[in-house]
Amino acid sequence: MNVMTNPISAPVLKERGLDVVLADGQSHYFNYYWLRDNCPSSFSSTTRERSFDIFHLEDAPTPITAEVTGDALEIVWSGEDHVTQFPLSLLETYATAGPRQDPADLPREAWFGDHFPNVPRFSQPELVADPQVRRKWIEAMLVEGFAILTDMPDSDAALTETAKLIGEVRPTFFGDYFDVKTYINPTNTAYTSAALELHTDTPAEEHAPGIQFLHCRANSVQGGESLYADGVAVANDFRQRDPEGFKLLSEVSVPFYCEHDDYDMRSRQTVIELDQHGAVSGLTISQHMLDIIDLDQELLDRYYPAFCRFGRMLQEDKYMMHFLMQAGECMVFDNHRIVHGRAAYSATSGDRYLRGCYTDRAEMRSVYRALVSEGRFKA
Ligand SMILES: [Fe+2]
Repeated sequence: MNVMTNPISAPVLKERGLDVVLADGQSHYFNYYWLRDNCPSSFSSTTRERSFDIFHLEDAPTPITAEVTGDALEIVWSGEDHVTQFPLSLLETYATAGPRQDPADLPREAWFGDHFPNVPRFSQPELVADPQVRRKWIEAMLVEGFAILTDMPDSDAALTETAKLIGEVRPTFFGDYFDVKTYINPTNTAYTSAALELHTDTPAEEHAPGIQFLHCRANSVQGGESLYADGVAVANDFRQRDPEGFKLLSEVSVPFYCEHDDYDMRSRQTVIELDQHGAVSGLTISQHMLDIIDLDQELLDRYYPAFCRFGRMLQEDKYMMHFLMQAGECMVFDNHRIVHGRAAYSATSGDRYLRGCYTDRAEMRSVYRALVSEGRFKA
């Protein structure tokens, strides 16, 4: 390494931070607390966590000297026996405020009712065997929010094994798993043979689970077509068609509930969910779990028509993908983005059995980052 001091880019020490010229030729300001707290020596290479405790500094961090030496900013700190070597490349990464680059922040691609032949499909044994196939699966989940897994073994264990490829099984108040079949005394419309309107699951939870798995173990009944639509596609079009309605549905939260003898779950959610960029990232919608809306009745003069316009859009053929699930397939979809439902079926015409569970979006993104990026600590 060519170590030399460059007087042209000598940092300028100020009261609370310093100016340093970086590779773009511009002078950038960095706060002293930030520089001290994020000194590379603050992080343990073993735990990969921050081991430095800035709360124990007696005085505000202040440099005695700071200079650019080679490809690092070297700071000698006052009041402690410590010298920071800050790589300029790291300073360049943080020279402008904003979230750290995220490989899992992939642009979404909206899909429409004719999407079924193009749904990404992955063979379950290949997913188990090959991390690169897993990477493609997660990519499909991040971009399109929906994938079909094939060749699923006909066992309870197969679903657990599959879910664990992208996260831990996430319990809901129904437990770790749920079985969708016809029950004599159903506690949920899903457990009847009636039609199920398009919805996202468990909206009454404060944080509804992010990824849903539906493993089809048997499907020989008449009827019971699966219905799916991409909430991002519908909400993006709604934003164009009805900007005022979009504003209401993305800003005003409404109550959801799930209530029976020994539970009474409640939450408030906006129907349309936006991400950190202001783009549509999902929906929370369920007519059978929407509570009696408690908003100001005059606000409802505007809210309800917008809500109904949006609900009717969700049902349009343009967006609705429908197909019959086959035994041995597992639908995997983003429960905050993809609305799902099913047509009525004849309960006596055969068997219909789906076993399901959930994992979370954040864990899936974490698995993805670990698969595709070097991270900051990998040797
Ligand atoms: Fe559902």
